[in-house]
Amino acid sequence: MDRSSYVLAFALLLSACTKDEGPLYIPAPRPPDEPIDTAYFSAEVLPIFIAHCWTCHPPMGDMDLSATEAYGNLVNVESSGHAPAVRIVPGDPDASVLWNKVNYTEVYGLGMPPDGTALSSEELATIRAWIEQGALNN
Ligand code: HEC
Repeated sequence: MDRSSYVLAFALLLSACTKDEGPLYIPAPRPPDEPIDTAYFSAEVLPIFIAHCWTCHPPMGDMDLSATEAYGNLVNVESSGHAPAVRIVPGDPDASVLWNKVNYTEVYGLGMPPDGTALSSEELATIRAWIEQGALNN
């Protein structure tokens, strides 16, 4: 083969490769104004509370963080220890008592959990994103 046939063969090989596009990727439908990285309360935030907080904030406590009650006891609810501050202010993590506590800022007393088992940075990022996105019951 001369030089130009090599070039032709290579070009054919390349075009053959680009034809194989693999399985068709169809993204899941998503409501138009929903952020790409939506944080879901029931699927993402609640499991963190159940795993790390529920032992001390159980159904018989003042702030029940069990699956059915946690949302109603947190969002727009005045803190019992730090009123008039609110446990979770939708859209404003830094004004939320809970966000300050899980970050050990000490603005509202003890950090949470108070037993040395701090939340991971992924868990904190999930909680922050959820509060910033309006702390929806989603
Ligand atoms: C080892 C027990 C324990 C664990 C685990 C624990 N807490 Fe607490 N929590 C307490 C105690 C005791 C208080 C009351 C004293 C205070 O406000 O700091 C409290 C208070 C709070 C308050 C303030 C409530 C109010 O109305 O003022 C918030 C918010 C809170 N905890 C969130 C959490 C979260 C979120 C977790 C899990 C990441 C968690 N706690 C895990 C013991 C615990």
